[in-house]
Amino acid sequence: MAEAKPDNQPNTGSPQPQYLQALTGQPALVTGASSGIGKATALGLAKAGADVVVNYIGNPAPAEDIAHAIEALGRRALAIEADVSKEDDVERMFAQAIQHFGTLHIAVSNAGLQADAPFDEMTLEQWNKVIGVNLTGQFLTARAAVREFKRRGPKPDISVATGKLLCTSSVHQEIPWAGHVNYATSKGGINMMMRSIAQEVAPLRIRANAIAPGAIRTPINRAAWDTPEAYNKLMELVPYLRIGEPDDIARAAAWLVSDAADYITGATLYIDGGMTLYPGFATGG
Ligand code: BGC
Repeated sequence: MAEAKPDNQPNTGSPQPQYLQALTGQPALVTGASSGIGKATALGLAKAGADVVVNYIGNPAPAEDIAHAIEALGRRALAIEADVSKEDDVERMFAQAIQHFGTLHIAVSNAGLQADAPFDEMTLEQWNKVIGVNLTGQFLTARAAVREFKRRGPKPDISVATGKLLCTSSVHQEIPWAGHVNYATSKGGINMMMRSIAQEVAPLRIRANAIAPGAIRTPINRAAWDTPEAYNKLMELVPYLRIGEPDDIARAAAWLVSDAADYITGATLYIDGGMTLYPGFATGG
């Protein structure tokens, strides 16, 4: 069996970014786009040709930087603050986005957080916070997106689908996670929410899918990769023996919302280096 890399440096075996200009003329909105997977996805969609709404909460500076980076790629960008767990915020954000870009063809409901605790110590506040952002936030984002896709109707010269919704789930929609019951529950909920939405809106030619990242090098899980000891421990869970980079997710997201993936709806694409392959069974069982 191959050995894990002995350090936590970026893996030289990572692929070079490749983006087809498949999203030209398709404005996209990405929630939680000021860091991590959301940031990479906002930039990736722009590299694939989309104009992008960069949703953030809190400090505007990182979101403005990303908007400028998108403009430097020759696309249009708009940073909008909104707390995705609040209905009024989400409604205002969509109204601003649609006023600015005319419509949206792509929505990536990505904003998410963790508030970890042993189960018997988990507070109601920790539970509500995670469910509020990760699950209710994705509901509010998805609902606003579907309303806009329906209002605008088909534009087959722009995209053969009337709209594309992409939910950010996690391997933990499948893998139970002790100490993270609120988080795993929110991701399990996203799975059934996304598939039920997909079933409902498919006749409108609206596609709904999810990506389920594994361990990706972002601030949310820094403790799991930022020392060699932690990194090597993490690799016991990753058969592919490298951590994922945010661009691994962004490339897949750009493809999944493009017409190249047109017959795919209700699907969850695991992007996890094999984390969901029960790695313990490689040598046991
Ligand atoms: C979590 C990360 C974790 C990864 C794999 C993600 O959904 O946000 O903290 O490293 O799953 O366990």
